[in-house]
Amino acid sequence: MSGHGTPIPMTSRKCGPLKGVANVPGDKSISHRSLILGAMAVGETRITGLLEGEDVLDTAKAMRAFGAEVTDHGGGEWSVHGVGVGGFAEPDNVVDCGNSGTGVRLIMGAMATSPITVTFTGDASLNGRPMARVTDPIALFGAQSVGRAGGRLPMTIVGAQNPVPVRYTVPMPSAQVKSAVLLAGLNAPGETVVIETEATRDHTERMLAGFGADIRVEQTEEGRVITLKGQPELKPQTIAVPRDPSSAAFPVCAAIITEGSDVLVPNIGLNPTRAGLFTTLREMGADLTYENERFEGGEPVADLRARFSPDLKGIEVDPARAASMIDEYPVLSVVACFAKGQTVMRGVKELRVKESDRIDAMAKGLRAAGVTVEEGEDWWIVNGLGHGNVPGGATAMAQLDHRIAMSFMIMGMGTNAPMSVDDGNPIATSFPIFEPLMAELGANVERANR
Ligand code: S3P
Repeated sequence: MSGHGTPIPMTSRKCGPLKGVANVPGDKSISHRSLILGAMAVGETRITGLLEGEDVLDTAKAMRAFGAEVTDHGGGEWSVHGVGVGGFAEPDNVVDCGNSGTGVRLIMGAMATSPITVTFTGDASLNGRPMARVTDPIALFGAQSVGRAGGRLPMTIVGAQNPVPVRYTVPMPSAQVKSAVLLAGLNAPGETVVIETEATRDHTERMLAGFGADIRVEQTEEGRVITLKGQPELKPQTIAVPRDPSSAAFPVCAAIITEGSDVLVPNIGLNPTRAGLFTTLREMGADLTYENERFEGGEPVADLRARFSPDLKGIEVDPARAASMIDEYPVLSVVACFAKGQTVMRGVKELRVKESDRIDAMAKGLRAAGVTVEEGEDWWIVNGLGHGNVPGGATAMAQLDHRIAMSFMIMGMGTNAPMSVDDGNPIATSFPIFEPLMAELGANVERANR
């Protein structure tokens, strides 16, 4: 979807204790990969618990355009009849990935080694994001691309006729770039090697192994070295998508800052490449516990229990943890307002090129709400005021970014005066049930009367 329709202003105000069980939707990263890898397998992949947010629905539509049969059976159950590695058809129209950087970057990688030409576009947010981080490595395979100034969408990619395998060190901590290169490597002969100096979410590696690819990961002096043997026949899988830790972050943080709250968020994947926020919250003194810890599909999983935490303290967040909580800094910065002292976040340059410049978007809204924020290119500091002392009473701009909109709605649950956002539409990209789920827990989040 290239547009988000009429803006939906939203307001969140102080509420009674949040209580109950929050069943958050399926993991966005794993949902995209399930559809894309399903489309590259031979035969039928069955998926349960798929995130039916706009981002993932756009990827489903794209996979249909490439020739896969993608069927929605209702209730989060989907099937994908794949065309096999190298079997993509040329879409007969522009592929619109909406708001989704993950969708477009992974799909660009997946098609880069097929002899087809594809034009990609997205919404105003996605069309402003850098794509050279993908077009540079896929050029090494033999793909060509032409886009707007600064390597922006809309962009046309001409896939390689005779792809060659590559050896590529990812220059920034990005699971999307790593994954794009691996997906491109699938249809190249020989071995493609991807090296990351900082570990990022490893769902692509795990899922490729699950689909039967020959993939090995070694930790060496160079970093994490991933070696993939090209041109495998991927075997269809049955995938149960776990619930999204990045979505769990919102009810968890809401409970931590709202007096008297006690919320259970069941079945959350605690893959160490994703769980950095929860470790950080515990370091800040949050009452957050893991119950019923177990392994599911090879991944650590637990039920998260979050309770109101009146004595939070600001901390220096370990920069080595940044990649494992990169999407959670906006809501962490909200919790930091309710802590005493400074929360210092360093090594987070990537936040500037997400769905919005997330440091800028949060800093502006937090300042308007009476919080002092300092920032540099790759760091920011929130000066916490402590529980009961955060003024609020501002309208923040969501900047077409779901996590910015949701973060300010969580903030309003603890500020003295309500918090508003100009547009809640982007929330549907990753957390379409955000409003009913928060209402069920007892939150007071409303759409403004128009
Ligand atoms: C994602 C990787 C991260 C993350 C995004 C999902 C993925 O992006 O912010 O929401 O599924 O691979 P980067 O690769 O840009 O860090």
